[in-house]
Amino acid sequence: MYEQISHSLLNSILDDLRPEIRRQDLRHFYTRLGANFYAIHSLFRSLYGERQDFRAQMVQLVERMAEGYIFRSEESERLDMNREKDHNWFLSQKWVGMALYTNGFADNLADLANKIGYFQELGINIVHIMPILSCPVGKSDGGYAISNFREIDSRVGNLHDFQKISEQFRKHDILLVLDIVLNHTSDEHEWALKAKAGDLHFQDYYLTFEDRSVPDAFEQGMPEVFPETDPGNFTWNGEMGRWVMTVFHDYQWDLNYANPEVFIEMLAIVLFWANQGVDVMRLDAVAFLWKKIGSTCQNERKAHLILQLLKDCCQVTAPGILFIAEAIVAPSEITKYFGEDAIIAKECEIAYNSTLMALLWDGIATKNTKLLNEGIKSLPSKLDRATWLTYVRCHDDIGFGFDDRDIGAVGYDPHSHRMFLVDYFSGKYDNAPRGLVFMRNDQTGDARICGSLASLVGLESALEAGDQGSINRAIGKILLLNAVIMSFGGIPLLYNGDALGILNDYSYISDPSKVNDNRWVHRAKIDWQKAELRHQPGSVECRIFSAMKRMISIRKEIAAFADFNNRELLHADNEHLLCFLRLNPLRNTEKVFVVANFDDQTQILELEKFNRYGINPRANYIDLYSGAKPSQHDGCIALKGGQFYWLTEH
Ligand code: GLC
Repeated sequence: MYEQISHSLLNSILDDLRPEIRRQDLRHFYTRLGANFYAIHSLFRSLYGERQDFRAQMVQLVERMAEGYIFRSEESERLDMNREKDHNWFLSQKWVGMALYTNGFADNLADLANKIGYFQELGINIVHIMPILSCPVGKSDGGYAISNFREIDSRVGNLHDFQKISEQFRKHDILLVLDIVLNHTSDEHEWALKAKAGDLHFQDYYLTFEDRSVPDAFEQGMPEVFPETDPGNFTWNGEMGRWVMTVFHDYQWDLNYANPEVFIEMLAIVLFWANQGVDVMRLDAVAFLWKKIGSTCQNERKAHLILQLLKDCCQVTAPGILFIAEAIVAPSEITKYFGEDAIIAKECEIAYNSTLMALLWDGIATKNTKLLNEGIKSLPSKLDRATWLTYVRCHDDIGFGFDDRDIGAVGYDPHSHRMFLVDYFSGKYDNAPRGLVFMRNDQTGDARICGSLASLVGLESALEAGDQGSINRAIGKILLLNAVIMSFGGIPLLYNGDALGILNDYSYISDPSKVNDNRWVHRAKIDWQKAELRHQPGSVECRIFSAMKRMISIRKEIAAFADFNNRELLHADNEHLLCFLRLNPLRNTEKVFVVANFDDQTQILELEKFNRYGINPRANYIDLYSGAKPSQHDGCIALKGGQFYWLTEH
């Protein structure tokens, strides 16, 4: 958009740029800056317009974007251009991701190159390398407490290793996802060290207070993230003689985005990694970016403005980069991270579908799909050019953050239903699921669950008991859950060893730095010798891995599984079934009918119920996943306990 004030500001900023920046060939940079400048200026003004140094900060911002562009390689620029042309490229069904810890999956970054064969064997083409930047030993929150944003943790390698792996990934058409921890730094980050030493300039990078008055006012509205280990949201720092906001652990200092320098520094970090070959940035804990007294300090409007500004600036320098919003918040809030009042995503192109994830676990515990259906129905619709990450497990706990109204609508009491789920997965009713209760908050009664996918669905206990029936049921549940995330719409993201059926790993108990954080129970290191069992027919590993491999390769062939908001939820009149239709965005007559039975007993799918959706009860169907024809009788199809179908007319 052309607007006089911002345009004349842009002209004067360009006149003020440092000579070494002006001399460069910045053609593409300038066209994008011209196109985005009105938005960038407006957003920057909404956030920082009151400040005396507003204009000087704007110059800084433009210089940082230009510097980022100057260091962008030809190869990255070529990718930027291709992705601009084919701008819906990431909505395709061909993408399947995996999240892993470098030193849990391989020995280090260099060794990760040796695992490319595994990714290819399974069909993975997006790899989220969990945080690998420098962080203090023992006070790292699994890498999310960063002490140097431009340095790789020496325990996993160095920048050279990183560049090599990013080249290798690119050569093999694998996208690289890296975490950018925007919300906080480690208390050992240079900025925090300077702040502790009394440097007021750097104290303003954080939210620090001389006494409890402001912290107490904040606390009134703020929930606690880690109530068991880190109650409260502020930590006293004796060196500085001030309270500092620490929403997560006491050693994770929240950044102060009311200071434009913080924003500019973090933008420069995003651009730095964009130039090291990262394709997708996972923006950690984005809901927490803006703090306002009297609020929960989550999902604030200004947190969204910061993300929009980050997106607009990144689009000028490195437009091929995608953002993932890690916002594990209420269903009605999640879609806002794509950007509100927009047609295409203007904040993050991708967001974790934590609502679907939690609903799927509800289906496992209750063996019915009442809440699952209700929750999916209430998911706000998504923008174009935006997609979900669909997942079953990740490195974090499972929070049952569904909407209370949905829980009520299906006849449960929200509080007792959540208690039931926590009790169920922690084995209170029978000891099949091996979940651990995470961060019980005695005041609110809230609690979450940890555990690996396999252990939560009962594989660990079934193997211990040597009970073949239970083993089969557990494997069936692993495949059922994955069949839903593969077909729902979005990019399925597998976690670490889930395709090998990895069980809980209790070794964290003997590590003093991990013992109080039972999320480590599902962060096992892969035993690659054992993983070889995936090639041994009949083994549990082989049964899971080969089915997952098949599912992935079939997903990639089904155009209706691309994510163009082409899903229709169907009402089956059977409370154990989840049914939805996926339509080919280019040929609406081409449909895949997904049906999943969450019960342990056989359930009947009555095709007549779906007449109005154009499902022909008398047609012959074939299951795309197994290639088999389900046995049909009189317009009915039977699904065994835990079975799913990807049906299409034959
Ligand atoms: C994100 C990460 C989680 C971490 C938190 C604080 O939610 O996924 O592991 O503890 O941010 O950085």
